[in-house]
Amino acid sequence: MLKPLFTKEEIDCAVKRLADSIEKDFDDEEILFVCLLKGSFMFLSDLIRSIKNPSRVDFMRVSSYGSAMKSKGEITITKDLEEDIEGKNVIIVEDIIDSGLTLKVIKEMLIKRRPKTLKICALLDKKACRVVEMEGDYVGLAIDDGFVVGYGIDYAEYYRNLPNICIVEEDSL
Ligand code: IMP
Ligand code: MG
Repeated sequence: MLKPLFTKEEIDCAVKRLADSIEKDFDDEEILFVCLLKGSFMFLSDLIRSIKNPSRVDFMRVSSYGSAMKSKGEITITKDLEEDIEGKNVIIVEDIIDSGLTLKVIKEMLIKRRPKTLKICALLDKKACRVVEMEGDYVGLAIDDGFVVGYGIDYAEYYRNLPNICIVEEDSL
């Protein structure tokens, strides 16, 4: 059973707010958005349409969950960036910060490639679930523990096509 958590309107509002703060911080500078596949593809596509800065996008895929529910803390890069990020303003676009392990590994890895700036923009934040210290620079909506789907976010690859964000009730997991 799916229980609605955020409507499309609430998501749009949060995305617009994030886009406005990014625009404000970067003036007219160029930004390279690094979309973490697959969960962030819908978020990225809405976010960049609200940002007027000269922008480029690249994609990275890491696997940590498989179809299981909890992060194992082992992150494998299954698709690396195609762009050289040295000297660029880079914003990592992530769907959810949960334990923080994924972003910690990715951030450490990308810092070694010497970007000019490296920021994190996350749509959802499960603050209570952190295992390592990790703060997003731009964070959309705070949520409690619980498994969410929709707006690009999946459970076993399903539900990415939902326009809103729902909680999957425990008994149906
Ligand atoms: P972390 O490494 O524990 O922070 O995991 C972050 C990743 O776990 C996110 O990019 C999501 O892909 C996945 N994830 C965390 N919570 C959920 C959820 O509630 N639904 C679907 N995927 C989730
Ligand atoms: Mg993910």
